[in-house]
Amino acid sequence: MPTTTQPRSERALVESGVKDVLRVTDERTGRTYEIPIQDGAVRAMDFRKIKEKDDDFGLMLYDPAFLNTASCKSRITFIDGDKGILRYRGYPIEQLAESCTFLEVAYLLLYGELPTADEYKEWTHNITFHTMLHESTKKFMDGFNYDAHPMGILVATVGALSTFYPEARNIQDPEIRKQQIHRLVAKMPTIAAFAYRHSRGLPYAYPDNDLSYTENFLSMLFRMTESRYAANPVLARALDVLFILHADHEQNCSTSAMRGIGSSHTDPYSAVAGAAAALYGPLHGGANEAVLTMLAEIGSKGRVPAFVKDVKEGKGEKRLMGFGHRVYKNYDPRARIIKKIADEVFEVTGKNPLLEIAIELERIALEDDYFIKRKLYPNVDFYSGIIYQAMGFPTSMFTVLFAIARTIGWMVQWEEMLLDPEQKIARPRQIYLGPRERAMFPLEKRDA
Ligand code: ACO
Repeated sequence: MPTTTQPRSERALVESGVKDVLRVTDERTGRTYEIPIQDGAVRAMDFRKIKEKDDDFGLMLYDPAFLNTASCKSRITFIDGDKGILRYRGYPIEQLAESCTFLEVAYLLLYGELPTADEYKEWTHNITFHTMLHESTKKFMDGFNYDAHPMGILVATVGALSTFYPEARNIQDPEIRKQQIHRLVAKMPTIAAFAYRHSRGLPYAYPDNDLSYTENFLSMLFRMTESRYAANPVLARALDVLFILHADHEQNCSTSAMRGIGSSHTDPYSAVAGAAAALYGPLHGGANEAVLTMLAEIGSKGRVPAFVKDVKEGKGEKRLMGFGHRVYKNYDPRARIIKKIADEVFEVTGKNPLLEIAIELERIALEDDYFIKRKLYPNVDFYSGIIYQAMGFPTSMFTVLFAIARTIGWMVQWEEMLLDPEQKIARPRQIYLGPRERAMFPLEKRDA
């Protein structure tokens, strides 16, 4: 006879129609369980009461790579991957990219509302105030080889900042948290620019706090002997918009790393180093660099069909970089905006010859059954690299640019995790399939 093991109060709620439930029958025992559904989800812990025998561990949910597991409740970024929608705190990304600066959007992500003029002034001052790096950081960065990848330098240097700000480990103190958020958003462009200058053998250029966030970054990168670097306003604005598009993207690989590392209550610099390391991989933020390598390898428009054929026959081993997304099964809305910016940038810089190949690749892929069936569309990284290259960035800097913009997203998600009473140290379960207990023999007794 099937039984219901759900507690009485929950059952009463179900009967009164207040809550949705999932009713499941365990065919091993014949027992039926009612599992509450809330916000379109069931709680994994509710499955633990489903046992064959009383001393069983209970059912676990198996979800490698978190294909269908929500690890948190969040109020920051909304994505509808099927419809190609992205919103920060409720605002469509298209509107933010059209009318806001990156720092306004960073404020929005952090505080949940767009700033008033006074709030924006104060916020800009707070960020500007923290753009300098401790002089010892420079010595540390000098130790890297001349051809060190700037992303490697960034990961190491941002982690090393925790040694300069030991108070940052007081993560329960809201004021200290806020100060580290200001420092990280402010110092990432400086670290990034210094990493670039190091790789070029150029002297480090110090921040100019009278400039905007992106103008100052461009100045630290490209200033030579002039007393003030005047960035081209079209390029500075394009970079600002690219930063807006990359500022947050809910629970992606690097953000999950940030939350996971932060959940052990480590300091935010160490956690950002881990998040940036996750971003570095070619399946995530490293894809923008990989796209350029791929386009250069294709070499000409005429060779696109052969390349697409190779990708299809590679059966997953060779991928079309900058295509596909875990969440978007439609055109990535960020890619659409980037494509528009590309035209404005190329008016200033001249066309990047790789653009022609990229457009042809997109055209052929979007008409091809392989990509249509798998819902593979260009993602944010497909066109961003072509713009960065036209603006004068070497490919090794592309993921660094992504990391600068994503720092605010990491910090906001980190703070939301810390303040969420339901969160604890992140610690997934496993299904153990290794050997059962067996006897160990000392070395001299083991047969050859
Ligand atoms: N080129 C060719 N085939 C692809 C691609 C691609 N870019 N992406 C996915 N596929 C195929 C897979 O081979 C698989 O085919 P199958 O069903 O025949 O086995 C199917 O599409 C589903 O792919 P998955 O790997 O299961 O999709 P997943 O959600 O795990 O991967 C990812 C998403 C990593 C982004 C993937 O699409 C990819 O590798 N893209 C290229 C790298 C890239 O551009 N990354 C940047 C993502 S955006 C960002 O992180 C900022």
